[in-house]
Amino acid sequence: MKRLMFGVLISVPAFCLAADPEVGDFGKTSDGQAVEMYTLKSNDGLTAKIMTRGATLVELHVPDRDGKSADVVFGWDDVAGYESEDNQYFGCTTGRVCNRIAKGKFTLDGKEYTLAINNEPNHLHGGIKRSLDKVVWKATGFSNDRGQGVRFSYTSPDGEEGYPGALKVQVSYFVPAKGTSLRISYKATTDQATPVNLTNHAYFNLAGAGSETVLDHMLQLNADKYTPVDDTLIPTGKIEPVADTPLDFTRMKKIGARIDKLTDTAALGYDHNFVLNAKTDATKELNFAALLRDNSSGRTLRISTTEPGIQFYSGNFLKGQQGKNGKTYAYRSAVCLETQHFPDSVNHDDFPNTILKPGETFESTTMYQFGIAKPAEKN
Ligand code: GAL
Repeated sequence: MKRLMFGVLISVPAFCLAADPEVGDFGKTSDGQAVEMYTLKSNDGLTAKIMTRGATLVELHVPDRDGKSADVVFGWDDVAGYESEDNQYFGCTTGRVCNRIAKGKFTLDGKEYTLAINNEPNHLHGGIKRSLDKVVWKATGFSNDRGQGVRFSYTSPDGEEGYPGALKVQVSYFVPAKGTSLRISYKATTDQATPVNLTNHAYFNLAGAGSETVLDHMLQLNADKYTPVDDTLIPTGKIEPVADTPLDFTRMKKIGARIDKLTDTAALGYDHNFVLNAKTDATKELNFAALLRDNSSGRTLRISTTEPGIQFYSGNFLKGQQGKNGKTYAYRSAVCLETQHFPDSVNHDDFPNTILKPGETFESTTMYQFGIAKPAEKN
């Protein structure tokens, strides 16, 4: 590679470092905190914008089969949008414990803890005012020979939103220079035993955010089993097979094909935790979780993760709110594919453990790989 510097042609090695990501202002929170936005780019057409409020993915542009780019995630044009009632966790880092905790209660080391009830009669997505999606994180951009990234960090003090222990959390977004993928990695440590379950709450529509529906997307989930729930969406504790139910996505299926046949659930559509099948290749760090495909644009999204479960939510509470660029976010017009530990794990000893202890490090990684479907792939 050649680069012109001070009028002299010099050679720089092909493995030269990517530049650090661009950073800009994204306005202020209603209580006056400055919010920054980081832009990560690959050489093959993926651009991700992530802001410091809630370490939130605000924009994600990826090419379609003709090379035309579209933003495939929901979001808002400004911080006020994110602070509004209409924001249903768009793109945020969700925690300290994502998903539901039954009646906002759990017992740890003989002590009972009570959390906010913000989704009657349960606790949802880490609480009300100081959940991880609502606080402003510190950020550091970085680059290396493989791509660009941004590392967000936040220390949630002991007792914040009712959770025990000071929790140090780090979330890193990384965009490899090659290809069209985004990697999100989480790390956390604590000074007291405490439950931790972290995910990203992006709403995807591969035809472009604001498209009418997601019911025409095809989905595959690497899950033979799921965790049935009661009528408040809390797991009963059973783990049951998806076979012969509308939850069977073990092969590619159209999301809308059986959605109205879901009868055993209080959810208004798909809103279920799937138990990911065990990894078939032990040498790989990540396990295949989900494959989403939009035949109209040709865009595909493959999600792989270190997490044991994935919440597949079909946007049943979306209500036509107006988001970025005046786009309307209609009922069932996006999917969330939230890699995580199972809901209410803190009250189910036989679910994978979510209790983090002092001296331990919580680590989790999810990879979002975009691609283009082969013309023959229709079903
Ligand atoms: C999802 C959850 C849904 C709903 C949504 C936010 O993660 O599974 O039930 O609460 O978040 O509107």
